[in-house]
Amino acid sequence: MHIYDLDTPAVVIDIDVLERNIQQMAAHCKGLGITLRGHTKSHKNPAIARMQVASGSRGIVCQKLGDAEVMAKAGLDDILMTYNIVGRQKVRRLTELARWRKMTVTADSEEVVRGISDQARIDGVRVGVLVEMDTGGKRTGVQSPEAAAQLGQLVMGLPGLELRGLMTYPSLTSGKAFMDAAVEKFHELGLPTSIISGGGTGHEAISKQLGCTEHRSGSYVYEGLSRISRNEDLDPQRCPLRVVTTVVSVPTRDRVIIDGGMKTFRLFPTYPYGKIIEEPDASIYGMSVEHGHVDVSKCSRKFKVGDRLTVIPLYQEGVTNLHEEITGFRKGEVELVWRVEGRGKVR
Ligand SMILES: Cc1ncc(COP(=O)(O)O)c(C=O)c1O
Repeated sequence: MHIYDLDTPAVVIDIDVLERNIQQMAAHCKGLGITLRGHTKSHKNPAIARMQVASGSRGIVCQKLGDAEVMAKAGLDDILMTYNIVGRQKVRRLTELARWRKMTVTADSEEVVRGISDQARIDGVRVGVLVEMDTGGKRTGVQSPEAAAQLGQLVMGLPGLELRGLMTYPSLTSGKAFMDAAVEKFHELGLPTSIISGGGTGHEAISKQLGCTEHRSGSYVYEGLSRISRNEDLDPQRCPLRVVTTVVSVPTRDRVIIDGGMKTFRLFPTYPYGKIIEEPDASIYGMSVEHGHVDVSKCSRKFKVGDRLTVIPLYQEGVTNLHEEITGFRKGEVELVWRVEGRGKVR
């Protein structure tokens, strides 16, 4: 079946492009001499996680426990959770996972590590810990190398925990002094640095310069070797994820309406919304909840109700999280259907 024969709106992935993106990032990291750890947040799909691992990713990264549970059930192991795990329910789910999977978490406070340690001790499991540093990203992370060392020492003394090293996000050149000082303090105190983890698609070489042993990338599966922020970058040779839509109305010569709006692409989607492969001169200029508004005034073709238009969305992982199924195709022909098993798993 051709992807134009699918019921729409249909989220589809060009498997050839996906495979190329995955292999290119693996080769890029290998060339830099840094271990890749593939993030699963963009696709939330165990089949794609397995492709990342098969191409050379060491283990995987998950942002939420719900994703980690899906991946663990599907057979993936060596899971790094780059999120402070807070609260009784979550800590229990983490130690449950640690019974049968190698689990490592990042943490930036005493409360977080004590909470995990208490439950890990009761359950008789070990959870790996990386101390998260805020080396310029201004999100989570300890605020100084001294604080990193202090938290590292605390982790070393707590039951059920195994200190494995340090982590930062994103990898920024301006964070080098912080990182160097933290690593030095860890060495002085005899704390382990077997993992120094950096991250962010496009920041691989920076991780290497910072002395990281591994790099976490996720967006590369859909975007290639660097992040996309402009419609001009939405090249079908680079972006495997698309949404096939149907023209449901041609109210005027200049405007067509497609059957995908905010509930297909993203609530409050980022402008510019995306690129229409068949009509590069068309421009999606607005979205209501279930309608996409397309300006076709610059197109020479005459549109009719029933035409199919394929959109490469600007914010691809936002699209993934809205859909239960994604169809994989090669050369236009449907090959398989994946369930987005981590969809909506925000806990
Ligand atoms: C902690 C952490 N590591 C790695 C990544 C991967 O970054 P990218 O999506 O740029 O590949 C993210 C992205 O949100 C992240 O939050």
